[in-house]
Amino acid sequence: MAQRPCSTIRDMDYSIDSTTREVENCLHMLLSGHNADTSILNSAMRYALLGKAKRSRALYVMFTTLHFGGTPTHALRSASALEMIHAASLIFDDMPSMDNSEFRRGQAATHIAYSEATAMLTGIGLMNLAFGVVSEDRSLPDDKRTRIISILSQSIGTNGLIGGQQDDLDSVNRDLTSDEILKIYERKTSALFKAAFEIGGIIAGTDEENLPVLRNFGNRLGIIFQILDDLSDAFAAEDKTLKTVRLDKDKPNLISGLGEQDAIDKSNQMMTEIKSEAARLFDNNSTLTNYTTHLLQILHQRLAA
Ligand code: IPE
Ligand code: IPE
Ligand code: MG
Ligand code: MG
Repeated sequence: MAQRPCSTIRDMDYSIDSTTREVENCLHMLLSGHNADTSILNSAMRYALLGKAKRSRALYVMFTTLHFGGTPTHALRSASALEMIHAASLIFDDMPSMDNSEFRRGQAATHIAYSEATAMLTGIGLMNLAFGVVSEDRSLPDDKRTRIISILSQSIGTNGLIGGQQDDLDSVNRDLTSDEILKIYERKTSALFKAAFEIGGIIAGTDEENLPVLRNFGNRLGIIFQILDDLSDAFAAEDKTLKTVRLDKDKPNLISGLGEQDAIDKSNQMMTEIKSEAARLFDNNSTLTNYTTHLLQILHQRLAA
């Protein structure tokens, strides 16, 4: 039996806007296909996943697939799965026992809009659905699906997102060196960006030797992404970040480690470096390079008064 298509647009141009729309259509479709009933969990999963978000990890899966000559519509379900894992991580991150944040994606955090118990189950529900979506994706051959499932599992794991989140919690009121702080960023934030690039490369069937290069680029991008997020926690307004700010006061980050001006200088230097790295690896005017410039610009603009 043919699988319900995730893609709805014919002759997609793969602009940032239309690819974002495609990813969001796919997320809608996967959630409605997943559970037709109107249970509270179904509603909370939609609430957490479909709120206003950049979809950057999913877009990197799509654009990496495109860049290496794959068929991006075949990447939609994996891209959506990664976005589900990311949304789940945000639900947990906001809970009172973690960052205790009440506002996310321009709306009340999931544990506020529902309850802590439902938020917990919603996060598990989204992570669980992510693995189901990839394992049942009939647009990919078995060997690719298995590799993607393994990458997703590693990226969430103790050497990835959850390990980084634990270190982040353990860092409260401690003095960490800049290197130690960057190691936390690599796990809590870069893990999903590394996964995005690697999954895109695998779907496109790129040479194996490109995969470590892609992972390394994702790692560096995740670090600068988190530094800009920390700067926006310190300096940006909530109407720009769409989430609670000024939460990092007790946590060491690059701003507390280096001081305000040095952290800003370091982030500017890293942004310049990653943009030229993108141009070197993916060519000057490729979708991947242009999207990287666009994403960094959005994050940087939030800092402007
Ligand atoms: C927020 O991620 C969490 C961090 C890693 C800093 P995003 O800034 O990508 O959040 P959404 O998905 O757009 O809401
Ligand atoms: C980002 O953590 C990493 C994850 C959510 C896994 P933060 O706590 O720094 O992100 P925000 O600022 O709440 O989005
Ligand atoms: Mg956090
Ligand atoms: Mg947080």
